[in-house]
Amino acid sequence: MTESLSHRPRRLRRTPALRALVRETRVTPHDLIAPFFVTHGTNVREPIPSMPGVDRVSVDLLVEDAHTVAALGVPAILLFGIPASKDASGSESYADDGIIQLAIRAVKAALPALTVITDVCLCEYTDHGHCGLLHGETISNDDTLPVLQRIAVSHAECGADVVAPSGMMDGAVGVIRRALDERGFSDVAILSYAVKYASAFYGPFRDAAGGAPKFGDRRTHQMDPANVREALRESILDVHEGADFLMVKPAMAYLDVVARVRDRYPELPLVAYNVSGEYAMLKAAGAAGWIDERSAVLELLHCIKRAGADAIITYHAKDASEWLRDHPLA
Ligand code: PBG
Repeated sequence: MTESLSHRPRRLRRTPALRALVRETRVTPHDLIAPFFVTHGTNVREPIPSMPGVDRVSVDLLVEDAHTVAALGVPAILLFGIPASKDASGSESYADDGIIQLAIRAVKAALPALTVITDVCLCEYTDHGHCGLLHGETISNDDTLPVLQRIAVSHAECGADVVAPSGMMDGAVGVIRRALDERGFSDVAILSYAVKYASAFYGPFRDAAGGAPKFGDRRTHQMDPANVREALRESILDVHEGADFLMVKPAMAYLDVVARVRDRYPELPLVAYNVSGEYAMLKAAGAAGWIDERSAVLELLHCIKRAGADAIITYHAKDASEWLRDHPLA
């Protein structure tokens, strides 16, 4: 017995083609930013155990991997460096022959059209693992700012297109903007980690980059996961200081924050960072056969965009780009 129902939403879900026609959110490789961990040496590829499929690579192999993602349509890469040695002030972060400086020059020489985004933070470079200079056991916000200026200018000199201060130091965006402009780099953009939470989901990244704090934690500068109004405050400050993009990090458990920031600042591009712990969870469940990795990753990327992100930093960038190319109606 068939009822005469005037509204049957199922009609538009009947076939893959109909579903494609009414799909509200699309993810393409152009939405993705691929992060890389770069280390000294040549022909080095060290797997990161907690991030299967992600390696620490030397500059020569970085260029190859960057070529691979660029050929798939990924428009940008984000570089993190593993320095040769660490010290109290993180001096390799702004050294002319520092790992990131070498990496930027090599990638821009080989792939000038690819956007190179660099991490501007001290935690991978300091022997204490904190994101700034210490006074005793306290991070000095204002003493750290000139170092961040120096790092950003050095990345710009090597050809970085975008610098991304990730350390949640107050005033960082403004001072970096000023330093870049004074040195003639007014075209270098700032991707502000405006809204970065003190998250347990960064665990695998800290193994990958060797940037775990030797004592204490990051809760005096990264945000409390319980807060969202504070995210709007952080965003407005960075907008006023000259951020070209805003970012919310992590992504998966913070989609309400992505949506709130999107609604409040519709005029700026918004990036969400699908972080290392989120990656590790899906990879582990996929490898155990508990979840279908491909479906779960593509679902998650669509959900992050649906929440309001324009672009997604994700360690799934290469695989997802291949899946999106192979299965356009999936
Ligand atoms: C700090 C930085 C971190 C991440 C990106 N930049 C680690 C931290 O704040 O402790 C985490 C990224 C991830 O987990 O994927 N430079």
